[in-house]
Amino acid sequence: MDARIVVLAGDGIGPEVTDEAKKILSAVADKFGHTFTFDHQLMGGCAIDAKGTSLPDETVDAAKSADAVLLGAVGGPKWDNPNASDRPERGLLGIRKALNLFANLRPVKLHPQLVSASAIKEEVLVGVDLLVVRELTGGAYFGPRKEAGEEGYEAYDTMLYTRPEIERVVRLAADAAMGRSRRLTSVDKANVLASSRLWRRVTVEVLKDYPDLEVEHVLVDAMAMHLIRRPADFDVVVSENLFGDILTDEASMLAGSMGMLPSASLGDVMNKHNLPLGLYEPIHGSAPDIAGKGIANPLAAILSSAMLLRHSLGLESEAAAIEAAVDAVLNEGVRTGDIAHTGTETVGTVVMGDLVKTHLLGIE
Ligand code: IPM
Ligand code: MG
Repeated sequence: MDARIVVLAGDGIGPEVTDEAKKILSAVADKFGHTFTFDHQLMGGCAIDAKGTSLPDETVDAAKSADAVLLGAVGGPKWDNPNASDRPERGLLGIRKALNLFANLRPVKLHPQLVSASAIKEEVLVGVDLLVVRELTGGAYFGPRKEAGEEGYEAYDTMLYTRPEIERVVRLAADAAMGRSRRLTSVDKANVLASSRLWRRVTVEVLKDYPDLEVEHVLVDAMAMHLIRRPADFDVVVSENLFGDILTDEASMLAGSMGMLPSASLGDVMNKHNLPLGLYEPIHGSAPDIAGKGIANPLAAILSSAMLLRHSLGLESEAAAIEAAVDAVLNEGVRTGDIAHTGTETVGTVVMGDLVKTHLLGIE
């Protein structure tokens, strides 16, 4: 198969972890006889520096005609001026919107080898295997807003949702739940927020089409607690944009580190293989404090590339081979600093990528 992958390495540790994901994709191409072309484009702080905008038009054009987009991370203190008219994060939100990536899939799986890397007790963690589906192009991130500016008195963001926006993401989550353990939890704040009451009403309506699903509606504050107290009780969790952002950072702690969690953002734009043109990125940020040190964990980026193969190219065996290679490396007791614990061997970003590659090439 031929595929063109747009790479948005971004800022901070973004380029470091993306290099390792590319290394693994190239190894997959060699091993399985595919041709992957990487088209590097600018987005985020690096784009502000080079082009004066966080999301240049040529980046959007390249992404729209690609088969998939691989993203590192954006942002950093250099661009943190609250008065700046553009910010790296605007580029990320802009590309999500431009590609209509309304559903962000964030699987949270505990690799059993990492139980002791988690801050949470082992008996709570056993069996954790969640898929959080976060709505990605609506809510407070995109609703009408007012900036206060330096002297301003008031500011607001509007958590706005329409029926179709809720319907399509809930349907996608319900379909995903049907392919898993048929349990779906919808998270909202319907006791307070009008947008959440619409969310709940539309969700109830949509789920009438899924009589075999076991459905639960949970308030977001309670969900924050349940995720730490009994995370293994949940399977697919669907929520609006901001709640999903917060809950997935929390859920990443179940997996030991944010450095382990991949994500896929999907919408209704199809690529030339007639599969969703998705954007794949680790859920972690640009980690400016460790950027350039060669110690970042590349596994979230590598696992994101597995999701890319699965969802945008339909290459399930190839995706599974990457996941198996990651497991094999963890089994050997090799760790990056963020998931290291007594008795493990700590390696840097490049060595971790090399080890995954070696295992991948060795897997039959
Ligand atoms: C994420 C990040 C982004 C978000 C930021 C960087 C804009 O936190 O992907 O979770 O809030 O969506
Ligand atoms: Mg986030």
